[in-house]
Amino acid sequence: MPATPPIRRIAVLTGGGDVPGLNAAIRAVVRRAGERSLEVIGVRDGWRGLIADDTVPLSRDAISGILPKGGTVLGTSRTNPMKEASGLDRIKATLARHRIDAVIAIGGDDTLGAARHLSGTGVPVVGIPKTMDNDVRGTDVTIGFDTAVNTVMEAVDRLHSTADSHHRIMVVEVMGRDAGWVAAAGGLAGGADVVLVPEVPFDLDEVCATLRKRRATGRMFSIVVVAEGAAPKDAKAQVAQDTQVDAFGHARLGGIGAFLAREIERRMECETRATSLGHVQRGGAPTAFDRVLATRFGVAAVDALAQGHTGVMVALRGTSIVTVPLDEVTQGTRPLDLNLYALTRLFS
Ligand code: F6P
Repeated sequence: MPATPPIRRIAVLTGGGDVPGLNAAIRAVVRRAGERSLEVIGVRDGWRGLIADDTVPLSRDAISGILPKGGTVLGTSRTNPMKEASGLDRIKATLARHRIDAVIAIGGDDTLGAARHLSGTGVPVVGIPKTMDNDVRGTDVTIGFDTAVNTVMEAVDRLHSTADSHHRIMVVEVMGRDAGWVAAAGGLAGGADVVLVPEVPFDLDEVCATLRKRRATGRMFSIVVVAEGAAPKDAKAQVAQDTQVDAFGHARLGGIGAFLAREIERRMECETRATSLGHVQRGGAPTAFDRVLATRFGVAAVDALAQGHTGVMVALRGTSIVTVPLDEVTQGTRPLDLNLYALTRLFS
Protein backbone atom coordinates (compact mmCIF):
# COMPACT_ATOMS: atom_id res chain seq x y z
CA MET A 1 0.00 0.00 0.00
CA PRO A 2 1.69 3.29 -0.99
CA ALA A 3 2.10 5.96 1.70
CA THR A 4 1.23 9.33 0.21
CA PRO A 5 3.42 12.06 1.78
CA PRO A 6 7.20 11.67 1.33
CA ILE A 7 9.04 10.26 4.34
CA ARG A 8 11.64 12.59 5.87
CA ARG A 9 11.84 11.54 9.51
CA ILE A 10 11.48 8.00 10.87
CA ALA A 11 11.01 6.87 14.47
CA VAL A 12 12.47 3.51 15.46
CA LEU A 13 11.50 1.54 18.55
CA THR A 14 12.24 -1.84 20.11
CA GLY A 15 9.39 -3.51 22.04
CA GLY A 16 8.88 -6.67 24.09
CA GLY A 17 11.67 -8.90 25.42
CA ASP A 18 15.15 -7.81 24.33
CA VAL A 19 17.39 -10.02 22.20
CA PRO A 20 20.94 -9.78 20.90
CA GLY A 21 20.77 -8.28 17.41
CA LEU A 22 18.46 -5.36 18.18
CA ASN A 23 21.35 -2.90 18.13
CA ALA A 24 22.48 -4.24 14.76
CA ALA A 25 18.99 -3.51 13.41
CA ILE A 26 18.90 0.01 14.92
CA ARG A 27 22.34 0.72 13.43
CA ALA A 28 21.24 -0.50 10.01
CA VAL A 29 18.12 1.69 10.10
CA VAL A 30 20.18 4.77 10.96
CA ARG A 31 22.88 4.03 8.38
CA ARG A 32 20.46 3.32 5.54
CA ALA A 33 18.29 6.31 6.44
CA GLY A 34 21.40 8.51 6.41
CA GLU A 35 22.25 7.34 2.90
CA ARG A 36 18.76 8.32 1.84
CA SER A 37 19.01 11.70 3.64
CA LEU A 38 16.31 10.69 6.12
CA GLU A 39 16.47 11.49 9.83
CA VAL A 40 15.95 8.88 12.54
CA ILE A 41 14.48 9.49 15.98
CA GLY A 42 15.00 6.76 18.59
CA VAL A 43 12.08 5.94 20.88
CA ARG A 44 12.90 4.90 24.43
CA ASP A 45 11.37 1.73 25.87
CA GLY A 46 9.13 0.63 23.02
CA TRP A 47 5.59 1.97 22.77
CA ARG A 48 5.99 3.64 26.18
CA GLY A 49 8.36 6.18 24.63
CA LEU A 50 5.90 7.17 21.92
CA ILE A 51 3.03 7.45 24.40
CA ALA A 52 5.08 9.46 26.91
CA ASP A 53 7.05 11.45 24.31
CA ASP A 54 10.43 10.02 25.34
CA THR A 55 12.62 10.15 22.26
CA VAL A 56 16.21 10.83 21.26
CA PRO A 57 17.68 11.83 17.88
CA LEU A 58 19.84 9.05 16.46
CA SER A 59 22.84 10.41 14.63
CA ARG A 60 25.46 8.24 13.02
CA ASP A 61 27.72 8.92 16.02
CA ALA A 62 25.00 7.75 18.42
CA ILE A 63 24.97 4.28 16.90
CA SER A 64 28.71 3.92 16.48
CA GLY A 65 30.09 0.72 18.05
CA ILE A 66 26.72 -0.85 18.95
CA LEU A 67 26.75 -3.67 16.36
CA PRO A 68 28.23 -6.37 18.65
CA LYS A 69 26.35 -5.33 21.79
CA GLY A 70 23.49 -7.35 23.24
CA GLY A 71 20.26 -5.74 24.43
CA THR A 72 18.94 -2.54 22.91
CA VAL A 73 20.43 0.93 23.33
CA LEU A 74 16.89 2.31 23.09
CA GLY A 75 15.55 0.27 26.00
CA THR A 76 12.38 -1.78 25.75
CA SER A 77 9.12 -2.44 27.58
CA ARG A 78 6.00 -4.53 27.28
CA THR A 79 3.76 -1.43 27.17
CA ASN A 80 0.63 -2.16 25.17
CA PRO A 81 -0.74 1.03 23.54
CA MET A 82 -4.15 -0.60 23.22
CA LYS A 83 -4.33 -0.93 27.02
CA GLU A 84 -3.20 2.65 27.76
CA ALA A 85 -5.77 5.46 27.95
CA SER A 86 -5.87 7.14 24.50
CA GLY A 87 -2.69 5.20 23.67
CA LEU A 88 -2.85 5.53 19.88
CA ASP A 89 -3.89 9.21 20.06
CA ARG A 90 -0.96 10.02 22.35
CA ILE A 91 1.38 8.19 19.97
CA LYS A 92 0.05 10.23 17.05
CA ALA A 93 0.46 13.44 19.07
CA THR A 94 4.13 12.59 19.75
CA LEU A 95 4.69 11.83 16.08
CA ALA A 96 3.10 15.14 15.06
CA ARG A 97 5.07 17.10 17.71
CA HIS A 98 8.37 15.78 16.32
CA ARG A 99 7.23 15.87 12.67
CA ILE A 100 7.84 12.13 12.44
CA ASP A 101 6.42 10.70 9.21
CA ALA A 102 6.81 6.97 9.80
CA VAL A 103 7.58 4.33 12.42
CA ILE A 104 9.79 1.24 12.31
CA ALA A 105 8.67 -1.11 15.09
CA ILE A 106 11.10 -3.89 15.96
CA GLY A 107 9.42 -6.61 17.97
CA GLY A 108 7.57 -9.86 18.29
CA ASP A 109 3.89 -10.61 17.78
CA ASP A 110 2.75 -8.19 20.52
CA THR A 111 4.75 -5.21 19.22
CA LEU A 112 3.78 -6.03 15.65
CA GLY A 113 0.11 -6.26 16.66
CA ALA A 114 0.29 -2.72 18.06
CA ALA A 115 2.13 -1.66 14.88
CA ARG A 116 -0.79 -2.98 12.82
CA HIS A 117 -3.25 -0.91 14.87
CA LEU A 118 -1.13 2.22 14.42
CA SER A 119 -0.85 1.57 10.71
CA GLY A 120 -4.65 1.27 10.61
CA THR A 121 -4.89 4.90 11.75
CA GLY A 122 -2.97 6.05 8.66
CA VAL A 123 0.57 6.25 10.08
CA PRO A 124 3.16 4.66 7.75
CA VAL A 125 4.56 1.70 9.72
CA VAL A 126 6.99 -1.08 8.88
CA GLY A 127 7.73 -3.93 11.31
CA ILE A 128 10.92 -5.90 11.86
CA PRO A 129 10.49 -9.37 13.43
CA LYS A 130 12.53 -10.11 16.54
CA THR A 131 12.04 -12.63 19.30
CA MET A 132 14.13 -15.46 20.65
CA ASP A 133 10.93 -17.54 20.46
CA ASN A 134 11.03 -17.49 16.62
CA ASP A 135 7.24 -17.62 16.56
CA VAL A 136 6.38 -14.66 14.30
CA ARG A 137 4.27 -15.58 11.29
CA GLY A 138 5.41 -14.71 7.79
CA THR A 139 9.16 -15.02 8.33
CA ASP A 140 11.41 -18.07 8.44
CA VAL A 141 13.51 -16.59 11.25
CA THR A 142 13.36 -13.73 13.75
CA ILE A 143 16.25 -11.70 15.15
CA GLY A 144 17.54 -13.26 18.39
CA PHE A 145 16.60 -16.85 17.69
CA ASP A 146 19.99 -17.94 16.42
CA THR A 147 21.84 -16.42 19.38
CA ALA A 148 19.45 -18.09 21.83
CA VAL A 149 19.89 -21.46 20.12
CA ASN A 150 23.67 -21.11 20.28
CA THR A 151 23.43 -20.34 24.01
CA VAL A 152 21.28 -23.43 24.58
CA MET A 153 23.70 -25.52 22.53
CA GLU A 154 26.66 -24.33 24.58
CA ALA A 155 24.81 -25.02 27.84
CA VAL A 156 23.87 -28.53 26.71
CA ASP A 157 27.47 -29.15 25.63
CA ARG A 158 28.65 -28.11 29.09
CA LEU A 159 26.03 -30.18 30.90
CA HIS A 160 27.14 -33.32 29.08
CA SER A 161 30.40 -33.65 31.00
CA THR A 162 28.92 -33.14 34.45
CA ALA A 163 25.97 -35.44 33.63
CA ASP A 164 28.45 -38.07 32.45
CA SER A 165 30.70 -37.77 35.50
CA HIS A 166 27.80 -38.15 37.96
CA HIS A 167 25.77 -40.61 35.85
CA ARG A 168 22.84 -38.22 36.18
CA ILE A 169 19.90 -37.09 34.17
CA MET A 170 20.03 -33.35 33.52
CA VAL A 171 16.83 -31.51 32.66
CA VAL A 172 17.39 -28.18 30.90
CA GLU A 173 14.48 -25.75 30.75
CA VAL A 174 14.59 -23.24 27.91
CA MET A 175 12.39 -20.27 27.04
CA GLY A 176 10.17 -19.88 23.99
CA ARG A 177 6.75 -19.27 25.51
CA ASP A 178 4.19 -21.37 23.55
CA ALA A 179 6.62 -22.31 20.78
CA GLY A 180 9.18 -25.12 20.80
CA TRP A 181 11.62 -23.65 18.27
CA VAL A 182 14.39 -22.92 20.77
CA ALA A 183 14.00 -26.29 22.51
CA ALA A 184 14.00 -28.26 19.24
CA ALA A 185 16.87 -26.40 17.54
CA GLY A 186 18.91 -26.09 20.76
CA GLY A 187 18.29 -29.73 21.63
CA LEU A 188 19.28 -30.91 18.17
CA ALA A 189 22.40 -28.75 18.13
CA GLY A 190 23.46 -29.92 21.60
CA GLY A 191 22.58 -33.57 21.05
CA ALA A 192 19.89 -33.79 23.73
CA ASP A 193 18.44 -37.25 24.31
CA VAL A 194 14.87 -36.07 24.86
CA VAL A 195 13.30 -32.82 23.65
CA LEU A 196 9.89 -31.72 24.91
CA VAL A 197 7.94 -28.93 23.22
CA PRO A 198 4.63 -27.14 23.84
CA GLU A 199 3.19 -28.22 20.49
CA VAL A 200 3.32 -31.92 21.49
CA PRO A 201 2.09 -32.68 25.03
CA PHE A 202 4.33 -35.34 26.53
CA ASP A 203 3.73 -38.60 28.35
CA LEU A 204 5.92 -38.98 31.45
CA ASP A 205 5.90 -42.78 31.16
CA GLU A 206 7.20 -42.49 27.60
CA VAL A 207 9.91 -40.03 28.63
CA CYS A 208 11.07 -42.41 31.39
CA ALA A 209 10.91 -45.38 29.02
CA THR A 210 13.24 -43.57 26.61
CA LEU A 211 15.65 -42.72 29.42
CA ARG A 212 15.58 -46.31 30.74
CA LYS A 213 16.33 -47.63 27.25
CA ARG A 214 19.45 -45.46 27.16
CA ARG A 215 20.60 -46.76 30.54
CA ALA A 216 19.94 -50.34 29.45
CA THR A 217 22.40 -49.84 26.59
CA GLY A 218 25.08 -48.58 28.98
CA ARG A 219 24.56 -44.86 28.55
CA MET A 220 24.43 -43.86 32.18
CA PHE A 221 23.58 -40.19 31.70
CA SER A 222 20.96 -38.33 29.72
CA ILE A 223 20.06 -34.78 28.79
CA VAL A 224 16.43 -33.68 28.55
CA VAL A 225 15.66 -30.28 27.00
CA VAL A 226 12.21 -29.02 27.91
CA ALA A 227 10.54 -25.87 26.61
CA GLU A 228 9.04 -23.68 29.35
CA GLY A 229 5.63 -24.01 27.67
CA ALA A 230 5.69 -27.82 27.40
CA ALA A 231 3.22 -29.76 29.51
CA PRO A 232 2.27 -33.38 30.20
CA LYS A 233 -0.71 -34.79 28.30
CA ASP A 234 -2.95 -34.80 31.35
CA ALA A 235 -2.01 -31.29 32.58
CA LYS A 236 -4.74 -28.67 32.79
CA ALA A 237 -2.31 -25.79 32.20
CA GLN A 238 1.32 -24.89 31.57
CA VAL A 239 3.53 -24.36 34.63
CA ALA A 240 3.75 -20.65 35.48
CA GLN A 241 5.89 -18.78 38.01
CA ASP A 242 2.94 -16.86 39.44
CA THR A 243 -0.62 -15.90 38.54
CA GLN A 244 0.23 -12.54 36.97
CA VAL A 245 -0.01 -11.74 33.27
CA ASP A 246 1.66 -8.93 31.32
CA ALA A 247 -0.06 -6.13 29.36
CA PHE A 248 -0.53 -8.53 26.44
CA GLY A 249 -2.04 -11.24 28.63
CA HIS A 250 0.99 -13.56 28.78
CA ALA A 251 1.69 -15.60 31.91
CA ARG A 252 5.27 -15.82 33.22
CA LEU A 253 6.04 -19.41 32.35
CA GLY A 254 8.68 -21.43 34.18
CA GLY A 255 9.02 -24.41 36.50
CA ILE A 256 8.29 -27.35 34.20
CA GLY A 257 12.00 -28.33 34.31
CA ALA A 258 12.05 -28.63 38.10
CA PHE A 259 8.74 -30.55 38.05
CA LEU A 260 10.07 -32.92 35.42
CA ALA A 261 13.35 -33.51 37.26
CA ARG A 262 11.47 -34.42 40.46
CA GLU A 263 9.15 -36.80 38.59
CA ILE A 264 11.96 -38.48 36.64
CA GLU A 265 14.04 -38.96 39.81
CA ARG A 266 11.04 -40.42 41.66
CA ARG A 267 10.07 -42.80 38.87
CA MET A 268 13.56 -43.88 37.81
CA GLU A 269 15.46 -43.71 41.08
CA CYS A 270 18.26 -42.00 39.23
CA GLU A 271 19.82 -38.76 40.41
CA THR A 272 18.33 -35.94 38.35
CA ARG A 273 19.05 -32.21 38.32
CA ALA A 274 17.23 -29.30 36.73
CA THR A 275 18.81 -26.21 35.15
CA SER A 276 16.79 -23.28 33.90
CA LEU A 277 18.62 -21.15 31.34
CA GLY A 278 16.20 -18.23 31.67
CA HIS A 279 17.27 -14.79 30.52
CA VAL A 280 20.83 -15.95 29.86
CA GLN A 281 19.36 -16.98 26.49
CA ARG A 282 18.63 -13.33 25.71
CA GLY A 283 21.98 -11.94 26.83
CA GLY A 284 25.41 -11.41 25.36
CA ALA A 285 26.68 -10.61 21.90
CA PRO A 286 24.62 -11.56 18.85
CA THR A 287 25.86 -14.34 16.60
CA ALA A 288 27.08 -13.49 13.10
CA PHE A 289 23.79 -14.84 11.74
CA ASP A 290 21.74 -12.49 13.91
CA ARG A 291 23.96 -9.51 13.06
CA VAL A 292 23.59 -10.13 9.34
CA LEU A 293 19.84 -10.82 9.57
CA ALA A 294 19.22 -7.71 11.69
CA THR A 295 21.31 -5.60 9.31
CA ARG A 296 19.37 -6.88 6.28
CA PHE A 297 16.04 -6.28 8.04
CA GLY A 298 17.02 -2.74 9.12
CA VAL A 299 18.06 -1.74 5.62
CA ALA A 300 14.98 -3.36 4.06
CA ALA A 301 12.63 -1.60 6.50
CA VAL A 302 13.98 1.85 5.54
CA ASP A 303 13.84 0.93 1.85
CA ALA A 304 10.25 -0.28 2.21
CA LEU A 305 9.15 3.01 3.78
CA ALA A 306 11.07 5.06 1.20
CA GLN A 307 9.33 3.09 -1.55
CA GLY A 308 5.93 3.91 -0.06
CA HIS A 309 5.15 0.59 1.64
CA THR A 310 3.29 0.63 4.92
CA GLY A 311 1.44 -1.84 7.11
CA VAL A 312 4.03 -4.48 6.31
CA MET A 313 6.79 -6.43 8.04
CA VAL A 314 10.13 -7.26 6.47
CA ALA A 315 10.73 -11.00 6.54
CA LEU A 316 13.21 -13.68 5.56
CA ARG A 317 11.83 -16.27 3.13
CA GLY A 318 14.48 -18.75 2.12
CA THR A 319 17.43 -16.49 1.38
CA SER A 320 15.40 -13.46 0.27
CA ILE A 321 14.11 -10.49 2.22
CA VAL A 322 10.46 -9.81 1.39
CA THR A 323 7.60 -7.77 2.86
CA VAL A 324 4.50 -9.38 4.36
CA PRO A 325 1.28 -7.51 5.33
CA LEU A 326 1.04 -6.95 9.11
CA ASP A 327 -2.57 -8.15 8.83
CA GLU A 328 -1.24 -11.60 7.91
CA VAL A 329 1.61 -11.59 10.40
CA THR A 330 -0.67 -10.87 13.35
CA GLN A 331 -3.20 -13.65 12.68
CA GLY A 332 -1.54 -15.71 15.42
CA THR A 333 1.87 -17.10 16.30
CA ARG A 334 3.92 -19.57 14.29
CA PRO A 335 4.17 -22.98 15.94
CA LEU A 336 7.22 -25.20 15.64
CA ASP A 337 7.70 -27.08 12.37
CA LEU A 338 6.90 -30.62 13.46
CA ASN A 339 9.47 -32.02 11.03
CA LEU A 340 12.15 -30.41 13.18
CA TYR A 341 10.59 -31.98 16.27
CA ALA A 342 10.45 -35.38 14.53
CA LEU A 343 14.18 -35.04 13.90
CA THR A 344 14.86 -34.65 17.63
CA ARG A 345 13.09 -37.98 18.24
CA LEU A 346 15.47 -39.76 15.89
CA PHE A 347 18.27 -39.02 18.33
CA SER A 348 16.60 -40.35 21.51
O1 F6P B 1 9.08 -13.72 24.33
C1 F6P B 1 10.40 -13.78 24.70
C2 F6P B 1 10.56 -14.39 26.07
O2 F6P B 1 11.93 -14.51 26.35
C3 F6P B 1 9.85 -15.72 26.28
O3 F6P B 1 10.59 -16.80 25.76
C4 F6P B 1 9.72 -15.72 27.77
O4 F6P B 1 8.64 -16.55 28.18
C5 F6P B 1 9.44 -14.30 28.09
O5 F6P B 1 9.99 -13.53 27.03
C6 F6P B 1 10.05 -13.82 29.38
O6 F6P B 1 9.62 -12.52 29.59
P1 F6P B 1 10.27 -11.50 30.62
O7 F6P B 1 11.55 -10.99 30.01
O8 F6P B 1 9.24 -10.43 30.73
O9 F6P B 1 10.54 -12.24 31.88
